[in-house]
Amino acid sequence: MSGHVHTVRSWLGQLLESGDRPSGSLAYRTNRKAIWRGDIPEKYARLVDRVPGQRILELGAAEGVLSLLLAPSKEKVFALEMKPERHAEALRLQSYWQEQGRDVGRCEMVLGDIKQHLHLLRSVDTLLAVRSIYYLRGDLQQVFDAVGRSVANVVLCGNKNRARKYYDANGDPADHLGKSNYLATLEGMTSLLEACGYAIVSTVAEGDPIVIGAKNISPPN
Ligand SMILES: C[S@@+](CC[C@H](N)C(=O)[O-])C[C@H]1O[C@@H](n2cnc3c(N)ncnc32)[C@H](O)[C@@H]1O
Repeated sequence: MSGHVHTVRSWLGQLLESGDRPSGSLAYRTNRKAIWRGDIPEKYARLVDRVPGQRILELGAAEGVLSLLLAPSKEKVFALEMKPERHAEALRLQSYWQEQGRDVGRCEMVLGDIKQHLHLLRSVDTLLAVRSIYYLRGDLQQVFDAVGRSVANVVLCGNKNRARKYYDANGDPADHLGKSNYLATLEGMTSLLEACGYAIVSTVAEGDPIVIGAKNISPPN
């Protein structure tokens, strides 16, 4: 209990110190100052060298940190986010980093829902989704059918907390929350990609699990 109180106090302290409104993911909010000065938390940094391809679409890019980190080494990165306040923060971070001389101009922040932006899948060779596919719920199949038709590589990163909940519930797939938590596990992400015809090229089990799949699709024009 005292540990919990300490954690909440420490989080509130950081918010008050930075003067931020409480919007955005916890990882972003608690590290906002460090991220803006370029001191990147491991949560984002661990993924940068794992993303294959030259044209990337990040689904659920939130404040755009990972997409912006990828931009210098890629031809094009679309950072798709449906929440306007997160998209707006991503634009602010991009402008600030550009003022600081960072090469992030090839990242395009896109506001919207993937369901209205399926056309973007035809212009990329990699789909990247971190802690986001379980929000697709009833739209998951439609979105991944479209992904499987035109995207050569998929990088999925799940959520270790949701995965633990799924396994603690003995993976009962009839459980409403269990269904979406399954998609946060290594097993669930692997099964989704294999069902879409991807061969699994690598996985990381530690921390938030990561699954990377590939299939033979001609590169986008
Ligand atoms: C849990 S957050 C993860 C954000 C970020 N990838 C990270 O790991 O910090 C999931 C994000 O996906 C976005 N999202 C969920 N469904 C989406 C959809 N259908 N189209 C675009 N973005 C979506 C949410 O608005 C949210 O910002």
